[in-house]
Amino acid sequence: MISGHLGIKENTLTIGGADTVELAKEYGTPLYVFDENKIRECCRAYVNSVEKYYGGNGRIHYASKAMCIKEMCRIVAEENLGIDVVSGGELYTAYAAGFPMDKVCFHGNNKTPDEIAMALEFGVGRFVVDNEYELETLSRMAREKGVTAHVLFRIKPGIDAHTHDFVKTGQIDSKFGVALETGEALDIIKKALKTDNINYCGIHCHIASQVFEVKPFCEAAEVMMDFIKVIKDETGADTKELNLGGGFGVAYGDADTPVAYDKYMEAVSDVIHKKCEEHNIALPFILMEPGRSIVAAAGITLYTVGGIKEIPDIRTYVSIDGGMADNPRYILYQSEYTFCVANKAAEPKSEVVTIAGKCCESGDLLGEGVKLQKAQIGDTLAVLTTGAYNYSMASHYNRIPNPAVVMVRDGKSRVVVKRETFEDVIKNDI
Ligand code: LLP
Repeated sequence: MISGHLGIKENTLTIGGADTVELAKEYGTPLYVFDENKIRECCRAYVNSVEKYYGGNGRIHYASKAMCIKEMCRIVAEENLGIDVVSGGELYTAYAAGFPMDKVCFHGNNKTPDEIAMALEFGVGRFVVDNEYELETLSRMAREKGVTAHVLFRIKPGIDAHTHDFVKTGQIDSKFGVALETGEALDIIKKALKTDNINYCGIHCHIASQVFEVKPFCEAAEVMMDFIKVIKDETGADTKELNLGGGFGVAYGDADTPVAYDKYMEAVSDVIHKKCEEHNIALPFILMEPGRSIVAAAGITLYTVGGIKEIPDIRTYVSIDGGMADNPRYILYQSEYTFCVANKAAEPKSEVVTIAGKCCESGDLLGEGVKLQKAQIGDTLAVLTTGAYNYSMASHYNRIPNPAVVMVRDGKSRVVVKRETFEDVIKNDI
């Protein structure tokens, strides 16, 4: 699976026109490498879809949890996206990057008073309120500050798209948001409309992540539009904003078949227009929050191959100088990846191996039954499509310092996050 921004030059894998083996030499391994043009291309596909299918009456918010660093915030700001943050740390990163705070949407099922205070101080554009306790806290803190908080409510739309055969279920059992079927969602909106320092703007839902179909998003849009009508009938209030969340799938392996990113907006726009006509309501401003699909494909991780352990009739372990500390997605979700010996990229993948990390834990693997070129000690191993939820989910397990992040653009590379040192790792120890 070698796509556009990745290439092979003289048997070596390239990314954004840069030689990956040279990058590994220059910056060391493990190393996260991103192709900036690819990120921008993905941003533009979404932004253009709002123009093309929804008359520009909406905005794409990058879900920063996928990869939250200052440089990503700068890039998506330049591409005219807003941003979704879900913690004080993500909010602070966006703020420190100079991200326009009015285009920040603050999520989270348990925002702490400290986080709310910081968000009010920074003047974030929208709070996606999860529950009644948060509504009360936000109202009190906004009143004390003499400001108004602009809010959307996180709704459980009852669409479960976690499997390929998505189902419509009662989804009361979720830690996120308020339920439709119990009346909880309507009640909290009624309450918000009477609450001081709270400006009701709209509703939000997020159905799942790594979804390959448009249909569940259309179903969610229908449910949400019907609810907008209920809100109007029951309270007289207009719902000006509809945020349909993220979750659009990317290809990790050959079997994954992602939908072209503009198809989501095309399909959802159709549903919303029809529902507006049916219910005689105005078109809401639409928001979508892609995270993975903005940044996953743009990123790869480079490692150096260490020991290779052949266990006859069982398996061959190819050990690398990273693992679950920089990519916990295999140990957490058995996620599939595509692997390539970067300095033998044009050679056939003749071996089937297990990629072993260096943490003191048997489950610290990046893949099993992986097809790979014949690897040798000192080779550079590339893992593709690691741009999302790798760096952002990295840990210091076994006191392993976090790798550096390098951005490549038109063949030129620059460090955007420095490699941590051992001193960095112990810096808060007393
Ligand atoms: N909006 C909300 C409210 C979300 O909860 C999420 C993801 C997104 C947007 C972005 O979804 P995306 O477009 O990236 O699928 N750690 C997991 C993924 C967890 C996603 C959680 N929420 C993984 O590594 O696969």
